[in-house]
Amino acid sequence: MADLSVRIGDVRLANPVLPASGTFGLGHARIFDITRLGALVPKTVMPDAQPGHPAPRLTEEAGGLINAIGIPSAGIRAFIADTLPLYRAFDAPLVISVSADTAETFAECVALLCAAGGLTAIELNLSCPNLEAGGRAFALDPEPTARVVRACRAVSTLPLWCKLSPNAGAPGTVAEAAAGEGADALILANTMLAIAFDKAGAPRLANRTGGLSGVPVKPINLRLTDEIARRVAIPIIGCGGVATLQDMLDYFAAGATAVAVGTATLSRPTTMVHLIDALGAHLDARGMAAQDLVRRRAI
Ligand SMILES: Cc1cc2nc3c(=O)[nH]c(=O)nc-3n(C[C@H](O)[C@H](O)[C@H](O)COP(=O)(O)O)c2cc1C
Repeated sequence: MADLSVRIGDVRLANPVLPASGTFGLGHARIFDITRLGALVPKTVMPDAQPGHPAPRLTEEAGGLINAIGIPSAGIRAFIADTLPLYRAFDAPLVISVSADTAETFAECVALLCAAGGLTAIELNLSCPNLEAGGRAFALDPEPTARVVRACRAVSTLPLWCKLSPNAGAPGTVAEAAAGEGADALILANTMLAIAFDKAGAPRLANRTGGLSGVPVKPINLRLTDEIARRVAIPIIGCGGVATLQDMLDYFAAGATAVAVGTATLSRPTTMVHLIDALGAHLDARGMAAQDLVRRRAI
């Protein structure tokens, strides 16, 4: 059987297939063996309890989904007390996604997670509104991104993986800012801002706008991966529209070291294990290892 392992900085994953935060949970353990995944990645946790956006929060559009879930959360302390032990019970690397509305509260969450122990890495979801910039998402600009990573780096004993946004005007500069402050990896990327109307001309989502995911975002996030792989040296986890082996191979071709799978899991919960099996068969047939697919260009 081919060696599917890859390295994301200092972290070794048994295979390069991870859940995209927000589309995976412990319920999947009733459907398949979740310890087969490269890592477990629960939904983003916020500093305090919050309900998320009102319904309707999800609509199908353009062969994908637009969601305005808004990160309902029990809050970081309740998550650490109640949910983290349930994830720790599984023998798999564990990556916890956090977000916050200031750099300071980001760092508080990271410090609490590091103290809690048992984690492999922390994912910084930088697509949340930045209170100090009138609600503009951190990942849209290099300076607020750098501020969050710097604050978190100062308190973190764990690898920091930064999830960026395809909505940034100059995403390469944002990636460089994150890498420059010591991010260990990038996840490229979150959803694309979008809107959909019903036949009466009313927005279909209660929040009016949401984030487009699935098949239609693949070429966008693939291009982002291709650009950023030429600009920063840290590993990239490709994310957006991965549903098939070819999608995975495309992200590797663009410079990714692993992929995260979201919307495809929502329509077919076992997608990730099928992808792991398909990658294994693909590599076996060629006498290759997953590491052979990682072809970063010289920077
Ligand atoms: C229903 C839903 C909820 C999501 N929640 C989160 C979240 O909590 N944190 C996050 O970083 N990304 C979240 N995302 C974005 C996904 O992790 C992923 O970046 C995006 O959907 C693109 O990947 P995909 O096309 O495979 O879905 C969510 C996406 C969907 C569809």
